[in-house]
Amino acid sequence: MTPDPGTKWHDPALLDHLRRVRRPWDALVRRVVRAVLKRYLPDPPGTLVEIGAGGGQLREWLPDDVAAATTHTEPSKPFARALRERHPTAKVVVADAAKLPFDAGSVSGVLALCVLDTLPDLASVRAELARVLRPGGVVVHVLDLSTSPDALFPELIAAGELPLTNFARDPALLDVLTPAQRAALPEADDFDEVIAVRWGEFVPFVGMLARSNHPLAATADLGPFATLHEPGAFDPDRFALEFMAASADAARLQKLNRAMIGLFLAARQFGKPWTVRALSTRTHLRAKLATAFGSDHGFAVEFAGPVRAWEVADGFTLRHAGRTVSRPLPVPFTPVEELEGVPPAALPADGVRATTVEVLIARRATVSGQT
Ligand SMILES: C[S@@+](CC[C@H](N)C(=O)[O-])C[C@H]1O[C@@H](n2cnc3c(N)ncnc32)[C@H](O)[C@@H]1O
Repeated sequence: MTPDPGTKWHDPALLDHLRRVRRPWDALVRRVVRAVLKRYLPDPPGTLVEIGAGGGQLREWLPDDVAAATTHTEPSKPFARALRERHPTAKVVVADAAKLPFDAGSVSGVLALCVLDTLPDLASVRAELARVLRPGGVVVHVLDLSTSPDALFPELIAAGELPLTNFARDPALLDVLTPAQRAALPEADDFDEVIAVRWGEFVPFVGMLARSNHPLAATADLGPFATLHEPGAFDPDRFALEFMAASADAARLQKLNRAMIGLFLAARQFGKPWTVRALSTRTHLRAKLATAFGSDHGFAVEFAGPVRAWEVADGFTLRHAGRTVSRPLPVPFTPVEELEGVPPAALPADGVRATTVEVLIARRATVSGQT
């Protein structure tokens, strides 16, 4: 059983956790949010609605005139209470984004931070946003954190693929491999959470090794992947829970990644190489939202992609796109300066803190099918 997504949105400890995770990146994300809003919101902003406002993080990044024009909506009563306590002057309404208490065409902008990635029913929320937005009104969605990899699983499994952890970039393991082994690993970057493999290449191979008691198929190391070859053993919900639990535990993850590297290299040696592709939840979400807010649904996407901001920081370089890594960001991005209309400065080689924020701007069509 997958836990009801509703339950986790009632624990105020999650709000403290989000605040803690965000703290080092606060100034950078604020800058991106402000640049995006200045570029895409009307001036003056008109009537704005935030959906899934949580404890009010986005409000803390808004310029005063935008904050004053915004009504924050949030379906979780404990979260809405926390928002009111933190921002006593804010307008806060308990409401699901699929059923907003606003008249049709009465809203000039819908704001959201890390919300569209969490919704089990994106279509009904999109329809409601289309209803409340005036023609030409805009949806501004920003995602500064990473989204949960299990959002990818149903699609992968339906396509005959199995999600593995990103064993090709585990920094604790790369250094112990020979250069030839490293070169043989799948292409992936630090922001890919998943390496997808063809089910028909992975599962029978592990089954074959397990039947001959090969150490590479050791149940303790392979965790949720060890018994998939047994008839009836695959339960997608349980698998997702176990995958997430293993990914969240550094020691288990390292053991799993080591086992996956061993299997991957062994499959090549056995002449049964796996067909794999690395995936990031952000790229996946970007594609999903670009389709969801297309012209078929009364919107047009004006911008979809990562926006980067950076600052000089003492010590070593830290890069962030939901998760923090020290390697260079290999993904293409829009420099925040481009939205601000100033020339981007060259990033120093070291001693910087850089982040990318995933941004979606979708505009409500003025007449059916047009923006
Ligand atoms: C990851 S949290 C983000 C909270 C806040 N925006 C932030 O970034 O700190 C996702 C938020 O979406 C809200 N949410 C979940 N389902 C929703 C729905 N159907 N309509 C509106 N908000 C929803 C949750 O209650 C939660 O506050």
